[in-house]
Amino acid sequence: MVDIHCHILHGVDDGSGNLTDSLEMAQLAVQNGTKAIFATPHCNMPHYFENFMSTELEQRLSALQKMLGERNVGLTVYCGHEIYLAESFLQRLKKSELVTLNRSRYPLVEFDFYEQASDAYRKIEMLVSEGYVPIVAHPERYAFVNEDEYAVGKLRRCGALIQLNSGSFSGSFGRKPAVTAENILYHQLADFVASDAHSQYSRTPDLSQAHEFVCENFSYDYANVLFRINPGKVINDDEIR
Ligand SMILES: [Fe+2]
Repeated sequence: MVDIHCHILHGVDDGSGNLTDSLEMAQLAVQNGTKAIFATPHCNMPHYFENFMSTELEQRLSALQKMLGERNVGLTVYCGHEIYLAESFLQRLKKSELVTLNRSRYPLVEFDFYEQASDAYRKIEMLVSEGYVPIVAHPERYAFVNEDEYAVGKLRRCGALIQLNSGSFSGSFGRKPAVTAENILYHQLADFVASDAHSQYSRTPDLSQAHEFVCENFSYDYANVLFRINPGKVINDDEIR
């Protein structure tokens, strides 16, 4: 499996605190069937996490990749950002201060949990009009999605792809996100399931239970698309239909 959303980069946000945490997260991911991960630190969040691309950030990623290689962990780590869509996200993307997943056409994006629906659609359209194909992280956690059963369909019509969190199915984020995530799966409106892992202890990078959930409740083929095929297309910047 390939995990397109993971806070495995150490010391930059509320995810991994240091290289030891990152190593343990990587080992846990590999033990449970993950072969590649995108390091997607929070960024462009005013007053919290800026994390604009810099030599320092690139050196951190290199240090993580080097350590995993030296210890033969068997995990490939690609660059990325979880881009908070605060103002000037587009200019910052164009200047490469914010990066897409493995520098593909696919930026991973997040909103405020109480984002106005109209603002969310407008921001997605702004990205699409510039040739990006935004992947909306965990829509099941946003109020406007939980309040409107058609919201995910609208996001998709604006040109977005949809990434569910693996923890949502088991209720890690509460009942509403669990129900919404299952509905999104039922209507086949999801494109990815990813861990959004922050630690090796809770919200971990273990995708195996979520994979099993999709296989048992939907189908193996659907799980394959969500956990392997579409994430693989992001790595190669291939088109996702
Ligand atoms: Fe995240």
